[in-house]
Amino acid sequence: MKWKGDRIAFEVYGTSHAPEVGVRAMGLPTVKIDAEALDRFLDRRRAKAAAYSTKRFEADLPEIQSTANLFHAVIKNTNVRSGDYADLYGVPRPSHADYAAHLMDGRLDFSGGGEFSGRLTAPLCVLGFAAKTALAERGIRVAAWVSAIGSVKGATYRDGLTNEMLSCGERGEWTPAKKDEMLAEIECAAAEKDSVGGRIEIAVTGLPGGVGGGSFGSLEGKIASLAYLVPAVKGVAFGAGFDLAEMTGSRANDPLRYEGGEVTFEKNDAGGINGGLSNGNALTLAVAVRPTPSIGKKQRSIDLVKKEDREIEIKGRHDACIVPRAVPVLEAAVAIAVLDALLEEGK
Ligand SMILES: Cc1cc2nc3c(=O)[nH]c(=O)nc-3n(C[C@H](O)[C@H](O)[C@H](O)COP(=O)(O)O)c2cc1C
Repeated sequence: MKWKGDRIAFEVYGTSHAPEVGVRAMGLPTVKIDAEALDRFLDRRRAKAAAYSTKRFEADLPEIQSTANLFHAVIKNTNVRSGDYADLYGVPRPSHADYAAHLMDGRLDFSGGGEFSGRLTAPLCVLGFAAKTALAERGIRVAAWVSAIGSVKGATYRDGLTNEMLSCGERGEWTPAKKDEMLAEIECAAAEKDSVGGRIEIAVTGLPGGVGGGSFGSLEGKIASLAYLVPAVKGVAFGAGFDLAEMTGSRANDPLRYEGGEVTFEKNDAGGINGGLSNGNALTLAVAVRPTPSIGKKQRSIDLVKKEDREIEIKGRHDACIVPRAVPVLEAAVAIAVLDALLEEGK
C-alpha cells in the first residue's frame, strides 16, 4: 500500500502472515505521540470476542522508530495460522484479491490475503494517529462512526451532525445508534456462515475554508484516493453524494447567511467542499464497505492448478462484518489526506 500526496508520502509494508507489518512515512510534522491514546485508538481496530470479529487476536503493540525525516512504525504479527489455507492452494476466494493477484504475478498461495489483508490497516492506523495528533494541535478533529450495517440504518450526518457522532470513537464505541439491531444483523449473517457490509461516515470539524486544490487536485480526490486504499471500501461519497444526482439545484444548494457577523450555511449537502476546496462547513463523507469476501458458506470457484471448477468452504478466521473494525482505519486515512492538504497550504 503506497500513497504520495503533496507533502506526505508513505508505504505500508508486510503481509498478513509475514513476521511483521509496518509503515514508513516522509513529510509528517514532528508530533509527540501519547502512547496510551494511541493504544486506545488501535483498540478500536483490534479483533474482539464479538460476532463480527475474526478470532485472530493480535496485541498490535507498535514500535515507533522515528527520525526528523522518517516516521517508521513496526508491528509484529504474533498469531499466524497459515494451515487454515492448506486446502485452498491455487483456489482463489471469490471477490477477495486472490485471483487478481494471481493475474498480476502468477501466485497460487493466497494464505491470509498476503499484502491485500486487512492486517495492513494496523500500521496505517499508527500513521493516521500521528496525523490526527498533528490536526488536533491545529484545532481540527476527525471522527468516524458506523451509520448502517446491512439493512439496519443508524445515525447519519444527513439528519444533522451531532456530538454523539463526533464523540463516538472517543467513548470507545463504533456507532451512536442501533448497536443491538446492528449486532443482530451481523449475528444473523454469521449464523448462516455469511457476511454483511455497511456504511461508515466520517466528519472533519474545525478545518478552515480554502484548503485543497494544489498540484494533486481537489480535496475530494485526495481524501477519496486514501479512503480507497482501505481494503473492502467500494464507494466514497461527500455530503449528499449520489442523492445530489436526483435533486434540483434549488434543493441541492446550501444557502449562506450571516449569523452574529459570521458566515454560516443553512445546510451541508456539499459535504463542506466546493470547487475541490474546503468551504468552512464541516467536511462530511460516507464510505460503503463491502461484506467480507471470505465466508464459510459453500461458493463456486476454480482450481488454478488442476484447471477445473471447484466448490469451496472457507475455514480461516474472518470478520463476519469488517465495518466496526474499519471505523478507525477510515479516520486514519482521512486524517492523513487532510493533513497533507493543510501542509501544502503552509498551515
Ligand atoms: C480491518 C479489516 C479487516 C478485514 N478482514 C477481512 C477478513 O477477515 N476476511 C476477508 O476476506 N477480508 C477481510 N478484509 C477485506 C479484504 O482485505 C478485502 O476485501 C480484499 O483485500 C479485496 O479488496 P477489495 O474488497 O477492496 O476489492 C478486511 C478489511 C479490513 C479493512
